[in-house]
Amino acid sequence: TNLKWVEATDYDEMSKIAASIFVEQLKENSKTVFGMATGSTPEGFYKELVSIYKEGNISFAQAKSFNLDEYIGINPSNEASYHYYMDHNLFNHIDMKQENIYLPTGNAANIEKAAMDYDAMIEEAGNIDIQLLGIGVNGHIGFNEPGTPFDLGTNVIKLAESTREANKIYFDSINDVPTHAITMGIKTIMKSKKIVLLIAGAAKQEAFDRLRSGEVTEDFPASVLNYHPDVTVIYTGVE
Ligand code: GLP
Repeated sequence: TNLKWVEATDYDEMSKIAASIFVEQLKENSKTVFGMATGSTPEGFYKELVSIYKEGNISFAQAKSFNLDEYIGINPSNEASYHYYMDHNLFNHIDMKQENIYLPTGNAANIEKAAMDYDAMIEEAGNIDIQLLGIGVNGHIGFNEPGTPFDLGTNVIKLAESTREANKIYFDSINDVPTHAITMGIKTIMKSKKIVLLIAGAAKQEAFDRLRSGEVTEDFPASVLNYHPDVTVIYTGVE
């Protein structure tokens, strides 16, 4: 496979290596189309990116950003929404223009149409130059759960119970965790020119091992990355 494996000494170093790859990309092309991810894993990455931005040598004013996913039936003002996460971890702190920031809408009247429109907008932007990814304990990328066909574009999915469990810390109770989400499809993700996958912590050991094995199967969504020509996996806390 083409996966490049980079072992970081700790979480901080993983975040710094990832941020420096994104900053280099922006320096090469001020009009970079970024693909962004949420979750606990990239929090340090965003902190690092914001702190580099605050040094004053880079600008996101011409860049664009598309996020991977969003829960269905949640408002952007909800603190557990990925809209809220992105504003607070990144967009409130940098000079990216509001009109260049895209996230799938979790509360659209016609959600199927919103999903198709999302892919069209990514394509119109010239596809994603660099996509950040995390990985679910079950190997999901974005919210593409095990069994998702590799050729699916942005779509609405039913969340796996293990995913709802893993994400309940962001909600008052398990009952408040949405049952569905809208996610960039695997096909959409695979069109990104470059991919950076972050893996941190022992909870991801099994997923890490399975990815490392090189086996490709729709039962383990992240395994599709073996077919992509430019993926860097930065990992820590797994071995
Ligand atoms: C979440 C997100 C993914 C994320 C993954 C891992 O549910 N939809 O984009 O990569 O699951 O999250 P975490 O980094 O919090 O372990």
